[in-house]
Amino acid sequence: MKHDSIHHTLSTHFAAAVAEVAGTAPSEIDPAVRPANDPKFGDYQCNVAMALAKRLKSKPRDVAEQIVTAVTPRLGEMVSKLEIAGPGFINIHLADDFLKDYLGEIPAPPNSPPSQGGARGGSDPAFAPLSADFDRLGLPPVDAPERVVVEYSQPNIAKQMHVGHLRSTIIGDVFARVLAFEGHEVIRQNHIGDWGTQFGRVILAIWHIYVAEERGEPEYVEQKHTELEQAKKDSPDSVRSVLEGIRQQQEEDLRKDVIAEEQGDDKFEVFLQKVLDSGEARELLTLERIESAYRFVNLVEELARGFPSLVVPNPRREPPWRLSEVSRLLTPMLQKGGEKNKPERLAWEYARLISLTNCRELYERLGVLLTDDDIRGESAYEEDLPGIVNELRQKLATGVSGRVAKEPWAAVRDDDEAVCVFLWDENGEPQFKTKEGDQLPLIIQKSDGAFLYATTDLAAIRFRLKDLRFPSGVGAQRVIYVTDARQKLHFQMWMATARAAGWIDDAHRVEHVTFGSVMGTDRRPLKTREGGTIKLSALLDEAEQRALELLNSRDEGTEGRGDEVAADKEAIARAVGVAAVKYADLRNDRNSDYVFEWGKMISFQGNTAPYMMYAYARIRSIYRKAAERFGSPDVYAPEVAIRVTEPAERTLALRLARLREAIDAVATDLLPHTLCTYLYDLASDFMKFYETCPVLGAADEATRLSRMRLCDLTARSLKLGLGLLGIDVLERM
Ligand code: ARG
Repeated sequence: MKHDSIHHTLSTHFAAAVAEVAGTAPSEIDPAVRPANDPKFGDYQCNVAMALAKRLKSKPRDVAEQIVTAVTPRLGEMVSKLEIAGPGFINIHLADDFLKDYLGEIPAPPNSPPSQGGARGGSDPAFAPLSADFDRLGLPPVDAPERVVVEYSQPNIAKQMHVGHLRSTIIGDVFARVLAFEGHEVIRQNHIGDWGTQFGRVILAIWHIYVAEERGEPEYVEQKHTELEQAKKDSPDSVRSVLEGIRQQQEEDLRKDVIAEEQGDDKFEVFLQKVLDSGEARELLTLERIESAYRFVNLVEELARGFPSLVVPNPRREPPWRLSEVSRLLTPMLQKGGEKNKPERLAWEYARLISLTNCRELYERLGVLLTDDDIRGESAYEEDLPGIVNELRQKLATGVSGRVAKEPWAAVRDDDEAVCVFLWDENGEPQFKTKEGDQLPLIIQKSDGAFLYATTDLAAIRFRLKDLRFPSGVGAQRVIYVTDARQKLHFQMWMATARAAGWIDDAHRVEHVTFGSVMGTDRRPLKTREGGTIKLSALLDEAEQRALELLNSRDEGTEGRGDEVAADKEAIARAVGVAAVKYADLRNDRNSDYVFEWGKMISFQGNTAPYMMYAYARIRSIYRKAAERFGSPDVYAPEVAIRVTEPAERTLALRLARLREAIDAVATDLLPHTLCTYLYDLASDFMKFYETCPVLGAADEATRLSRMRLCDLTARSLKLGLGLLGIDVLERM
């Protein structure tokens, strides 16, 4: 295939040669072809001879010799030299002509280049960057496209998104873009947390705000919260007395509510309908207020656990509620739905609406692909949950006695505590254990009938693999989940269960892609100076502000820098600020924690977004100058040949030829930082090239045209690569 990656082509040929030498099937032994670390050792290396020699019981250098003999006819003109070095490394030197041809085949950019803001997308943001006139640099889609789900972002309703959701959003978006670029059918899923026990608390929080407003005491929640915090410091008696005050108020308000409701005047419902219908009324019930009331409810219930005698009469005249349990008892009301519980449903709807509005704004600002169409949250699976539990009950009914030796095994146990799935490995050992060493089951339903987070995940995977419709057919072949590393055990457990149930089989690739935490400069999880969680909008505001300062300090004392001076510095700062935050996240191996340091991300020095964006704008400007001086030449005309005479020219050419490889690696290994490293190396190679290989002052026209073409290819590669990372380049900055 044209423009298959060089690495893949080499690997295929070496694999065939190795198989011939070893007498095995070509896919059996990995030929261990890697890019060389040092140009002294060629462009790539094949490092398999040492391991293979052991297997064949012969000398590594002899094996290397045999591999070289077997691979040479396969490689043809691709390489200029294969040399054996050290204990048996094979150094691979690509032929200059091969490199020239490889780059020479990259077509000119499409006539109508995508408008500014490719990363933000046009009418169909999902596929705008992949539309027909999108500059793919001639890279074709893969031969065997797959149906892929990428699940990312997954914020929780009625809570601010935190930095963990920011990481998932940024990283997941790269997978969605890269896999779509590679030609796969990608469906993005935003599995928002819009169901579950926390909703009782959300509803109660909203109710508190409402009754306080009704009484004309809008500060009530805040006040009581402060009083409780203080009482906690004072004594259990003070806690009790503040709680008693809250309890009394709650009892009174509930009674009024029920009387009104019975007279056919459900004021809470009217209030909720009003905030749902009108933008203005939402001032009363902002996300911040809901969140703060939510924290209040949490604190009340936590403290009230110490005082079980504090009870609130149940307005529906069933047994009274413990003050510590009111929210818990509200959740099933929501889950049962129905006319009688309408306010609960409306409160939930409202919390969802207001949270999603907030997410939408943030996604737009971040320039990620996610839209409302990608939302399929936990609540969407609500009706499937009983079926999930029943199906597991049937499929895993044989219990421990049915166990076949040497097979992983799962059994459902259903007692008055809960419905649990127990899992064993092929050695008969429990697959999961508690810290104390006891077997750890996956709970899928509690005794009160409530389903769990894991039950929903089981429903979601079954849906995605069996029912989700793609253009080419039904059911995903690959599902990628992007969440923080702390969810590892949860994912392992439900995935093992889904395998045991036969929902996931060997044909599916279901991957949990995790990431580390964002740390402050004190090496502890990132928090505000006051110790609170950082609001993402505030974080982006600061990034933009700092980007503006960076641009100002760069331009200090320089006036009239011609086309380098941009008309709209603030717009540039906006783009640079967001890009800096995204890039700083992506450039680190996602598996490790990283330190969030403004100085290191908003800087023109080092592997940063400002540096990369500036490199792009600079190359464009070099090209524009050359084009102005020499009259826009067609650098892609058939008579223009790429030359790789100077070492820096060759280094740049080789790097350019490895773009496909860099993109493929992200699609396979799901490690975005490798693409960042590639792009940074590309920019650095370009700068070295530009220092030693004059473009404007090239000795002759042919050299100049070749170098202009290399400039253009570099800029296009940077634009494509950064676009796949979700970062827009600017033509001038
Ligand atoms: N909403 C969850 C949270 O914020 C993340 C969801 C992850 N995805 C999943 N399929 N469980 O923790």
